[in-house]
Amino acid sequence: MLKIKVSSLKLGTQIGKDIFTYDSQLLLPRGSIITQEHLENFAVRDINEVYIMEATPRQKSERSFENVYGGALNVVNSFMMEARLGNNVDFNEVSETTDLLLEQVFDVSDLFRQMRLMKDKADYLFTHSVNVSLLCILIGRWLKCDEKTIKDLGMAGLLHDIGKVYIDDEILNKPGKLTQQEFEEIKKHTLLGYNLILQNPLLNHDIANAALMHHERADGSGYPAGIKGYTNFFASVVAVADLYDAITTAHTYSNRRSPYSAAEILWQESFGKLDPKISKVFYDKITNFYVGNQVLLSNNQKGTVIFIDPTQPTRPIVMVGDKFYNLATDRSITIIDIID
Ligand SMILES: [Fe+2]
Ligand SMILES: [Fe+2]
Repeated sequence: MLKIKVSSLKLGTQIGKDIFTYDSQLLLPRGSIITQEHLENFAVRDINEVYIMEATPRQKSERSFENVYGGALNVVNSFMMEARLGNNVDFNEVSETTDLLLEQVFDVSDLFRQMRLMKDKADYLFTHSVNVSLLCILIGRWLKCDEKTIKDLGMAGLLHDIGKVYIDDEILNKPGKLTQQEFEEIKKHTLLGYNLILQNPLLNHDIANAALMHHERADGSGYPAGIKGYTNFFASVVAVADLYDAITTAHTYSNRRSPYSAAEILWQESFGKLDPKISKVFYDKITNFYVGNQVLLSNNQKGTVIFIDPTQPTRPIVMVGDKFYNLATDRSITIIDIID
């Protein structure tokens, strides 16, 4: 059973413990399935926390993406809370959640669409952890890693920022630029996360390494150690996934960008910094995936991506009605969003 905030409670979640009103009236019995009406009722009655059943059924066909994603958010919420309180993290639960996420990463175009729909569902740190996990699994599949490695990559994604539970919320959520001192604080999440993950000696050591080194850059400009070169495969995969999610998701210190400009930024960042084996496959697959997508152009017109030049993948040819825009030659127009 998990105690979670009502703000991160998802529709369809099963209640783990009877819920009472302030005057001890039974509001909702254990086992009830959460509906929109229940959520509204909780808000009216100022009920902020409830107990829920732990993620249970496994059959892929019976679990929607939203359900799995919501369950993963609950698990991240719960293990981060335990870590913050100094309690042991239930790594079995992290492992089980990763198994469920693994089942969701097959249909790539659907995955990206679903991930876009999930933004703003919960605190940034929670959605970010789940997104990075899904992206790590995706990259593992694209690189044709074995299933054990892909599973460990998924766990590395879920856990990579766990050290942030020890960083002051005011610094983590600060809008605008951080002072040097605040940045030094943020940097500590890498080593803190590493030490926490090491508490479980059964986990692949690379999961801890990914937490430690996902902000290292091959040119030595990263942190915490400023190591030069491509140090660790897991950390390199997490670094690409982390950067992609950070630039496509709106949060306190950056504006949300479309997957196209994310791919462009990622590509620029990759030179001498990110492992090109990983950023290249990611870049190629992402830009190819967008053929056929509906996009919104900076001239406010909606069109369909019909051709991608591999040398300039973020500047495709877009069809609007019976007109064609070649963004490779018409540099004044950009894609500002992908629309469904
Ligand atoms: Fe991080
Ligand atoms: Fe991160």
